[in-house]
Amino acid sequence: MVKVITYGTYDLLHQGHINLLRRAKELGDYLIVGVTSDSFDIGRGKLNVRNNMLERVEAVKATGYADEVIVEDYQGQKIDDIQRYNIDIFAIGSDWEGKFDYLNEYCKVVYLPRTEGISSTQLRAETQDIFRIGIIGSGRIAKRFVPESNMVSGANVVSVYNPDLEAAKDFAQQVGIDWCDQFDSFLDGVDAVYIASPHPTHYEYAKRALMNGKHVLCEIPMVLSGEEARELYHLAEENNLVLLEANKTAYCPAFNHIVTLVKSGIVGDVVDVRASLSKMVAPPTRELDPAQAGGALNEHASITLLPVIKLLGRDFSDVSFYSKKEGGVDVYTKMNVNYPHATSSITLGIGIKTEGDLVVSGTKGYVYVPAPWWLTDFFEVRYEDQRKNKKYFYSYDGDGLRYEIQEFIAMIVSNRRSCYKLRRRESIAIADIIERYNSGVNLRLL
Ligand code: CTP
Repeated sequence: MVKVITYGTYDLLHQGHINLLRRAKELGDYLIVGVTSDSFDIGRGKLNVRNNMLERVEAVKATGYADEVIVEDYQGQKIDDIQRYNIDIFAIGSDWEGKFDYLNEYCKVVYLPRTEGISSTQLRAETQDIFRIGIIGSGRIAKRFVPESNMVSGANVVSVYNPDLEAAKDFAQQVGIDWCDQFDSFLDGVDAVYIASPHPTHYEYAKRALMNGKHVLCEIPMVLSGEEARELYHLAEENNLVLLEANKTAYCPAFNHIVTLVKSGIVGDVVDVRASLSKMVAPPTRELDPAQAGGALNEHASITLLPVIKLLGRDFSDVSFYSKKEGGVDVYTKMNVNYPHATSSITLGIGIKTEGDLVVSGTKGYVYVPAPWWLTDFFEVRYEDQRKNKKYFYSYDGDGLRYEIQEFIAMIVSNRRSCYKLRRRESIAIADIIERYNSGVNLRLL
């Protein structure tokens, strides 16, 4: 019996796929089709796949050509599969000509003619709604947002708003978009906004955008109080709009895998989470300006509280803070968030330097994520018996903003108001803690 194997994403299954599968089947007696898993596609930078893995598997089965469908989940799996399933022929479309010659060592490699004039990419483009995004604010992060949004289909950054017209114009000319210093006319020209203005302005901008029917992606800290966060999410819900906090670590593949692994008990019961983040800054900068809600905590708490709230929950019993302040802002803050069953501590700095790693300790082992853990593409699960340790690698593409933009657009397209990667209630809990700090509750100065 001649066994053939082929692989693909098979998104929005089309005639090109069907022809390819028919030709592959004709090469032998038994055809195995490897369909990429969602996480494998995200990991290799294919962020725009429309159908989820189950839908894609079902579509391949429905063609009737596959005798067996398997899931492709990791780099190098093709060699394993060819050996494991005793494959005689590896077949793939001619767009891959030459790319899989290395498999000739294991079986025969056949490049089949590709059907001209059709592809999933083309179908996605034809059926994609394009959302016009306007950026509010024109600082450092806003600049990174534009190239990152180009990686996400459906996202089209069209304009920037800044009350300072010169700043808006400067920015717009650099990145090739329109500019505006009138908020209402700016809103008229967009479907969604990305708020990247100084922290204290987020709330008002988000509220006005939501009241005008615009979806909102808001930089961290989304707001500086729990009440404001509740109000904004409520407003979004009432107006059937997406409000998403741009807490970029929350949407990254590696961080998501840490959460699911820990939740599935890989390190036992979690008893402690320790996260640090320090970034030295030099004046003059917004981070050192009390009028712009600068300081280490306002700057970095949203990201560092993420693993704590995701892994230990929102029912903490007490929170305490220790800060070193200079010029009206905290240059160093230690935050302890305790639970009846666990502890957590967070070290933040904009004027002190420390190791920016993350450790999640449990009754069976711990997860170690080296600095900078918030941009992570690697982590290790470690045990007393070191032979059981396991390392996990991911890709973290570009500046990482593409993952949150992708989530934002996907939520708009699928009419989803809530996102499991960062629940609204988790974002509110984070805002509550930031508010406690800014009101001086349980705060001691060093
Ligand atoms: N294929 C083909 N003819 C097409 C499109 C795809 O023969 N017009 C083949 C590919 O060469 C591959 C298989 O179908 O062997 C699955 O490819 P996949 O990447 O899922 O499809 P594409 O339409 O090429 O997807 P994308 O545009 O996302 O790359």
